[in-house]
Amino acid sequence: MSEHEIIGDIGEVDLSGKSHITSEGNAPAYFSAWDIHSYYGESYIVQGVSFDVREGEILALLGRNGAGKTSTLRSIARTDDPQMQHGEIWLDHQPIHLMKSYKAAQNGISLVPEDRRIIPGLTVEESLDLAQIAKPIGWTKERIYEHFPRLAERRRQEAVTLSGGEQQMLAVARALARDVKLLLLDEPYEGLAPVIVQEIERILQSIRDLGMTTIIVEQNAVAALKLSDRAVILDMGKVVFDGTAQEVLENTELREEYLAI
Ligand SMILES: Nc1ncnc2c1ncn2[C@@H]1O[C@H](COP(=O)(O)OP(=O)(O)OP(=O)(O)O)[C@@H](O)[C@H]1O
Ligand SMILES: [Mg+2]
Repeated sequence: MSEHEIIGDIGEVDLSGKSHITSEGNAPAYFSAWDIHSYYGESYIVQGVSFDVREGEILALLGRNGAGKTSTLRSIARTDDPQMQHGEIWLDHQPIHLMKSYKAAQNGISLVPEDRRIIPGLTVEESLDLAQIAKPIGWTKERIYEHFPRLAERRRQEAVTLSGGEQQMLAVARALARDVKLLLLDEPYEGLAPVIVQEIERILQSIRDLGMTTIIVEQNAVAALKLSDRAVILDMGKVVFDGTAQEVLENTELREEYLAI
């Protein structure tokens, strides 16, 4: 029997004596991952990851290649693979760990994967319409086009013909078209030229200024840290650091050991 269990519908009972849904003082964290363990088949990858994110905060989730960052994001989004076999995930008082991915999405979790998942055959506008086919919807198309003028110009263009940077904009825009409470970005700068990275950075800054709670995974750790309030570093599926983004920027040893920058 695990020391932490869901008992009927009376809520969770924590027998370990330490609370996992509080961050500071007694205020519950907006988002909380507690002791997540996930597997791909027999491969044990996410090995007891816990962290909190406060409302409106941006958290950088960092670590070397293969540290388990994507697997942690996928566990949070409740994808079937990797399979989360233990742990709890709470977002805005909702038990996400009890949900399948579509339900987690309805409850405000939005994962923008590394490959951006642009759907062939659809224009930019049709891609946004598709994102809004089911309720609850988020930003209106007008609002999206205001924040992403490049997408507005290209609204009738087939989405697969967009440049890499524009596809990343569309992937983020599609997430915002839904009612997002937690935005999960997996390597948003991947494969983009520096000038395009700057453009995406500006978009993410404006999203941050609107108070969107976000977890960002990025190889470009410095760029991610500049945007972030806090940072969690993973190594071999475990949390090895949890603190402010500033602390990571100032701690050369930590960066050399776990980030290779
Ligand atoms: N579908 C899979 N089946 C088996 N093992 C997998 C699968 N996907 C990932 N892994 C393994 O899980 C570990 C963590 O992978 P993950 O993709 O989460 O790392 P990451 O931190 O996102 O790395 P990167 O920075 O390279 O994207 C790696 O050892 C990887 O080989
Ligand atoms: Mg990854």
